[in-house]
Amino acid sequence: MGRDTTGVFKASTVFFPNVAALRERRWIDKSAYTYGLKGTPTTYVLEERLATLEGANHVMLVPSGLAAITLIDMALLKSGDEVLLPDNVYAPSLSFAQHELANWGITHARYDQMSVVSLSEALTPATKLVWLEAPGSVTLEFPDLRGLVRCIREKAPQALIALDNTWGSGVAFKPFDLARVDGSQAGDHLGVDLSAHALTKYPSGGGDVMMGSVACRDPALHHRLAWSHSRLGFGVGVDDVAAVIKGLATLDLRYHAQDAAARRIAAWCERQPQFKRVLSPAPAGLARAINTGPRTSRAGQGW
Ligand SMILES: Cc1ncc(COP(=O)(O)O)c(C=O)c1O
Repeated sequence: MGRDTTGVFKASTVFFPNVAALRERRWIDKSAYTYGLKGTPTTYVLEERLATLEGANHVMLVPSGLAAITLIDMALLKSGDEVLLPDNVYAPSLSFAQHELANWGITHARYDQMSVVSLSEALTPATKLVWLEAPGSVTLEFPDLRGLVRCIREKAPQALIALDNTWGSGVAFKPFDLARVDGSQAGDHLGVDLSAHALTKYPSGGGDVMMGSVACRDPALHHRLAWSHSRLGFGVGVDDVAAVIKGLATLDLRYHAQDAAARRIAAWCERQPQFKRVLSPAPAGLARAINTGPRTSRAGQGW
């Protein structure tokens, strides 16, 4: 086995020499294995690597990127709470709020992700969770992440902040340390509480795996999520986990190659009279955050 590879441990049942040994084992801090659904050596390896990538302390794997979003909603919201969603939110996340969350007495409201004022006006004492996307789904606006997070911390300290980090992928910026987004001084700490990620996309890279992850730093938050994860039975298949571990090794290379290609395509589109508008996250956010990859002479001008 190579230094960076790991075994594929398939398991449902785990055997213990006696009941006392079973009771002593703790899955929640990943110090041991108790049942396939609660983790295997293979899933622990991927979780640890994703935690390193995102700058988190705890990561949980779930069956899809959407399951990462719904786990956060279900674990952290209760009847009477409100969740805020950006206008360009990933559509199934909105649908989950409109249907399942509404059925459980949890309301949602929208805000304009490009306006801190709009977010500030949407925050109320009932706001318990705010979702961010950077860049946002489909239209790819890159918001003022630090401005949004600072506004929530000041005006709604009771609210947790979750980022759908699928597009940034842990490569473009570090969600728990947003100083790195705009090069602010170290010590000016500002970060989200939770990062959800569709591993289905960049980390897997092969177009053949469905998986998601939820990352956080706070151990108390991890415990809340882990117990909900356990009660919901959100396990993942280890063959898929092994595929993502393999994909992760080339994530950085692929991400930057795709970034460079997207910039070239966007620059080309800009020169075509048939195009009314070119939507791209660069340069408002990602261009500065990534700061690598070739730029064409037109890239960064007007898109
Ligand atoms: C921004 C974003 N979040 C979440 C998801 C959901 O991921 P999955 O398809 O693995 O459920 C997607 C999928 O397209 C996405 O684009």
